[in-house]
Amino acid sequence: MNRNRLLVGALLGCALFTGLFSASCSKDSTAFEHTTMRPWFDSKCGSCHGSGGSNRIQWAYDPNDYTGSIKGKISKIYSVVYNKRSMPPGGATQTELDAFKAWYDAGYPAK
Ligand code: HEC
Repeated sequence: MNRNRLLVGALLGCALFTGLFSASCSKDSTAFEHTTMRPWFDSKCGSCHGSGGSNRIQWAYDPNDYTGSIKGKISKIYSVVYNKRSMPPGGATQTELDAFKAWYDAGYPAK
C-alpha cells in the first residue's frame, strides 16, 4: 500500500513536472534582474500587473519570465511609458523616464 502510493506519487510528480514545466519554462526564459529597472517595475507596475494584481489582462508582469513579460511586450511597454505616458497611472518622473529610455535604448537588458 505504502509502496504503491509512493510509486503513484512519483509517477504523477514526473508527469506533472515534464508536462507542465518543460512546456511552460522555455529554454531562454530568464529572470528579469536589471539593477535599476527591476525595482522600478516592481514598485511602479507590480501592484496592478504583477501576480495577484488587478490588471493582468492587458499586461502580466512576471519578473521570473523576462522573455515573455518584458521582451515580448516591450513595444507596448515603451508606448505606454514613454510615448503616451499613461503608465504608471500616477506618472513617472523625468529621472525615471530618462532611466527607462536609457535601458530601452541599450536593448532592454534583463541584467
Ligand atoms: C494602478 C494600477 C496600474 C499600475 C500601477 C500600472 N498599470 Fe498598466 N494598466 C492599468 C490598467 C487599468 C490598464 C488598462 C487600461 C488602460 O490601458 O489604460 C493598464 C494597461 C497597461 C498596458 C496595456 C496597454 C495596451 O494598450 O494594451 C501596459 C503595457 C501597461 N499597462 C504597462 C504598465 C507599466 C509598464 C506600468 C509601470 C510603469 C504600469 N502599467 C502600471 C493599471 C495599472
